[in-house]
Amino acid sequence: MRLDKYIAFGLGKTRSEARGIIRDGLITINNEVVRKHNWIVDEDQDEIKYDNELLTYKRFIYVMLYKPAGYLSATKDENYPTVVDLIKEYAHYDLFMVGRLDIDTEGLMIMTNDGKFAHRITSPKRNVPKKYFVRVNQGFTSQDVKAFLEGFSLYDGHKNLYQTKPAQLEILNNNEAYITISEGKYHQIKKMCLKVGQEVQYLKRLSIGPIALDPKLKPGEYRLLTETEQRLLENYCLKGC
Ligand code: URA
Repeated sequence: MRLDKYIAFGLGKTRSEARGIIRDGLITINNEVVRKHNWIVDEDQDEIKYDNELLTYKRFIYVMLYKPAGYLSATKDENYPTVVDLIKEYAHYDLFMVGRLDIDTEGLMIMTNDGKFAHRITSPKRNVPKKYFVRVNQGFTSQDVKAFLEGFSLYDGHKNLYQTKPAQLEILNNNEAYITISEGKYHQIKKMCLKVGQEVQYLKRLSIGPIALDPKLKPGEYRLLTETEQRLLENYCLKGC
């Protein structure tokens, strides 16, 4: 791999920033300063250091984003800002969303460039639970709890009828609740709520499987998943959830 690419990935920089770092003589390969950005490195053998710190190349990254309302779950759009626009720092990783949220929905979104990881989490077979906080216009009843468990017949985004899997409705107070679903069909929570006569006024995703939205993040902020979180989620999915 070319040195500038390696440095860009290793430090989370753009390719031109990486070239500047190389030009400035801050990179050593096997203890020799290398200033040529097109130098070919052997990722397995060479010891590459930045400012005397050993660099490890990260092929895949996993980002936890607090998606704010008003951002589209897409990589590019002509009319609206997208969740990918929020993560400029890692633009060169070509990140995409692990599942989508509606434009007006907030909360936990995981972004990655690891297709297999994304597939494991979003595959309907894995039943990864996603927990949401919801505020509706009126209020849920105890019959609604039963109805959510039994499931609803809904149309998906392609006009096909499907039966929802059992979902948990935990009523918090008059018009607020937690809802946990293990699939992710188009507008699913809003449609389920409409089935019991409730219009969603506010929706926020709190967790995906064992990963909860970091309370330190504010809307629009993000951080990398820790290795423990990454492993937790992968193992969780491998067990079949
Ligand atoms: N269900 C919805 O209706 N919208 C979302 O954004 C996520 C789940």
